[in-house]
Amino acid sequence: MKPWVIGNWKQNPKSIKVAQALISDLLRTDNRSLLSQCQMMVIPSTVHLAKVADTIANLEPNLSHGDSATLIVKAAVADNPLLRLGGQDISALSAQVGAYTGDCSAAQLKDCGAAWVLIGHSERRQYYNEEEKVLQKKLQNALSEQLGVIFCVGETETQYESGDTLAVITKQLEVLTSSLPNELSQDLANRIIVAYEPVWAIGTGKVPTVEEVSTTHLAIKDLLTGFNSQITDPIVIYGGSVNADNAAQFAQAKGVDGALVGGASLKADKFLAIAQAFVK
Ligand code: PGA
Repeated sequence: MKPWVIGNWKQNPKSIKVAQALISDLLRTDNRSLLSQCQMMVIPSTVHLAKVADTIANLEPNLSHGDSATLIVKAAVADNPLLRLGGQDISALSAQVGAYTGDCSAAQLKDCGAAWVLIGHSERRQYYNEEEKVLQKKLQNALSEQLGVIFCVGETETQYESGDTLAVITKQLEVLTSSLPNELSQDLANRIIVAYEPVWAIGTGKVPTVEEVSTTHLAIKDLLTGFNSQITDPIVIYGGSVNADNAAQFAQAKGVDGALVGGASLKADKFLAIAQAFVK
């Protein structure tokens, strides 16, 4: 499996111009060989998504003329783009349209060019109190619109220190598995990524040891394959203070299929250096 290298831009950057410049830097001709060796994705702010999709479509040689959002989604589903596009959040209330001020639906994300969505990120859990029921609805809405899902799990520092990591993650994963259909197609199974992100490692510069990450990833894989035999090769990526200096150690760890990168994905050279570490 080619490694997944995913940039979660969070509430950055300040302007569309800077977002577009970042895409142009990533898609420079001399980076394309590297991009073709991994599965790279960016997850911009929802408000930047459509323009970022246009920028990718204009620069992507694999995409011919047509509506840029549709082209990007088609290419992502066919799995041949150099740069995939995801959204940071979707409405729990409706996958389509409705009177839900401030919300953005799975269908709207897809219409803007996203083929993937983040669900269960610790910042959503922490600041927006997203719990089991809301996450289940978001998962169902994403899957009903055929969006791939990056489902985030991870323990807090207190839970880590009391040795509860696996118990916490197992409970969080139950939200994902209970939302999946009993008959899971291979195509759908390939579009579920679990991101292990210890809450205490996000944006802090602190990281677990490579052995700890490896053990946790292998346990997550066991839980997923145990849940459904259709999931033969679960994708589990690590997130939390991944940077150009520490990426290589995670890249070599058993069970680590890629990285979910926050801060270090906002500069093309740093993000590409992480990709380089994963393709070696
Ligand atoms: P970080 O964020 O790389 O800045 O720690 C990771 C994430 O929140 O996905």
